[in-house]
Amino acid sequence: MSLRDRRVVVTGGGGALGVAVVRELVSRGASVRVPAHSERDVEALAGIERVSITPNVDLADEASVVAFYDGVGSDGGAELWASVHLAGGFVWGSIVDATIADLRRMLAMNVESAWLCAREAARRMTKGGRIVNVTAKPALVPASNVAAYAASKGAVSTLTTCLAEELAPRGIWVNAVAPSILDTPANRTAMPDADFDAWPKVDEVARTIVFLASPENAVTRGAIVPVYGRS
Ligand SMILES: NC(=O)c1ccc[n+]([C@@H]2O[C@H](COP(=O)([O-])OP(=O)(O)OC[C@H]3O[C@@H](n4cnc5c(N)ncnc54)[C@H](OP(=O)(O)O)[C@@H]3O)[C@@H](O)[C@H]2O)c1
Repeated sequence: MSLRDRRVVVTGGGGALGVAVVRELVSRGASVRVPAHSERDVEALAGIERVSITPNVDLADEASVVAFYDGVGSDGGAELWASVHLAGGFVWGSIVDATIADLRRMLAMNVESAWLCAREAARRMTKGGRIVNVTAKPALVPASNVAAYAASKGAVSTLTTCLAEELAPRGIWVNAVAPSILDTPANRTAMPDADFDAWPKVDEVARTIVFLASPENAVTRGAIVPVYGRS
């Protein structure tokens, strides 16, 4: 899979999955742009070549997202080829203990960010391209105590399949991956007694995402690809 000299945006690029995706893209020759939310994101990407980081971007804020994508094309270089939307968040707990703020936070972090980034990316992909979102297993397989999160990721799944239809005539393939529980330091801390070997590794999921974002993905669009490993 070659992405030599292709320009790719990765939101959430400083997160656990994001760093693995950025490394995989760079290893395939891509030039990567990351909107950083916090100093933690900037630090996580330090030292990786061919990564350009834009600080202080809030992907749930329309003006912030538009300004970021305007900046991606401002140097007159290659047109945006792919936009990979990993930024998002999680909340756990029973609905009887939840607040409306919990639901709104999930919708902002997961749905609004993906919708805004897909719009801005599509506006700039005049020669075709690739968009990859990330949803989650509970959006496909019902589970307890994740209703707000799963509802927001279900919306990301529907966004993905509808945009795949809408943007196909323009040569823009839209897909998503649906992880179960990723093997990340945060999940190991939260679930110390789990079978970590069963969880998909971020490097493994990154390779699936990079395939979907690559020109080698010649025909796959509108897919919600399960990346569950044995979990
Ligand atoms: N981890 C799992 O087990 C799992 C399972 C299924 C699906 N997923 C999904 O996979 C994606 C990546 O997961 P992860 O574990 O890598 O998460 P993570 O480590 O928490 O990274 C999420 C990234 O998104 C960024 N972000 C969140 N809200 C943002 C906003 N409003 N503007 C800009 N950036 C924002 C975060 O920045 P800050 O930290 O600076 O806010 C962080 O860089 C998420 O969408 C998640 O829902 C994860």
